[in-house]
Amino acid sequence: MTHIRIQEFRGDNPDLIDGLCLHPDDPEEMLEVMTPYMEARKRWLRETAGKGLRLAVALGPEGQKLGLMECVPIELAAEAVRGENSLFINCLWVLPAYWKKGVATALMNHFNLVPEGNPTGSRLPGGPGAGGVTVLCYEGDRWFGYFSYMPARFFKKFGFEEVDRDGSRVLLHLDLRGASRPSLLRPKTRPDACSSLGRHVVEVLYNSQCPWAGWMIHGIKRYLGQFDVELRFLNTDDRAVAEQYGMTRGVYMDGRPLIARLAPGREVARIVKRHLGDQ
Ligand SMILES: CC(C)(COP(=O)(O)OP(=O)(O)OC[C@H]1O[C@@H](n2cnc3c(N)ncnc32)[C@H](O)[C@@H]1OP(=O)(O)O)[C@@H](O)C(=O)NCCC(=O)NCCS
Repeated sequence: MTHIRIQEFRGDNPDLIDGLCLHPDDPEEMLEVMTPYMEARKRWLRETAGKGLRLAVALGPEGQKLGLMECVPIELAAEAVRGENSLFINCLWVLPAYWKKGVATALMNHFNLVPEGNPTGSRLPGGPGAGGVTVLCYEGDRWFGYFSYMPARFFKKFGFEEVDRDGSRVLLHLDLRGASRPSLLRPKTRPDACSSLGRHVVEVLYNSQCPWAGWMIHGIKRYLGQFDVELRFLNTDDRAVAEQYGMTRGVYMDGRPLIARLAPGREVARIVKRHLGDQ
């Protein structure tokens, strides 16, 4: 697509993301459930703006929104990763109607992450101001069943290389000479999270970075209602919680990690049911 324009989030214009993370054509129920989580995301954006967050929205020739990209210093990553002097891509998202038209490439170029024609070249003047760029991708996982979730193949085209892996979670890094090698946190077993009153405990970890966490929570409440389990919800905006669990978004059951990503309630219910059946 020609004439892609980029608009940056300045800290005081969080409405810039309206119509992207949540689209007006999404089903009524989704809009209703996720709107409060969208507000939480906007609050989080405002708070994180002063700490190095950068968010850019791609606009088409008529000013229509096409997609967004969001980066933070890796210490503030929305995912369970560890590193230093690296910029972490929290999210890259293009509306499906505009896929394969160069929108994501325009966003990557805007952030000046990759020296053009030389993906493994040295740090750029005017580049990200970090020694590397890191992103968490998934192999084979689908975003709430819809499409490839942060596909590794896309980022590898830009010279990103695998530096760590845990099941389908693949950590990619683009070394611009200066970042230490980042790594994934592994979900930890938590023997102290035992059943209360003899019931199984399902813990749901989420954060404010993405409103779809709200859709996960809604789905889990709906589909796990049929099981005799105690549900607990933990916000991992507090980094200490993320470090305790080795996870920022996902599901635990009786102190054991079941899923280490955002997931639809139906999928979580299927896995919980299997574990209940095993006991
Ligand atoms: C991956 C994604 C960002 C690509 O956006 P896009 O605007 O279609 O990408 P571009 O048009 O700039 O494509 C650049 C290159 O990547 C390739 N590519 C595009 N989508 C790809 C995919 N899903 N897997 C692998 N390669 C892909 C294109 O073919 C193109 O390669 P080429 O230059 O050799 O032709 C987009 O499909 C998307 O948003 N997916 C969902 C991402 C996600 O899970 N976000 C978190 C949830 S909000």
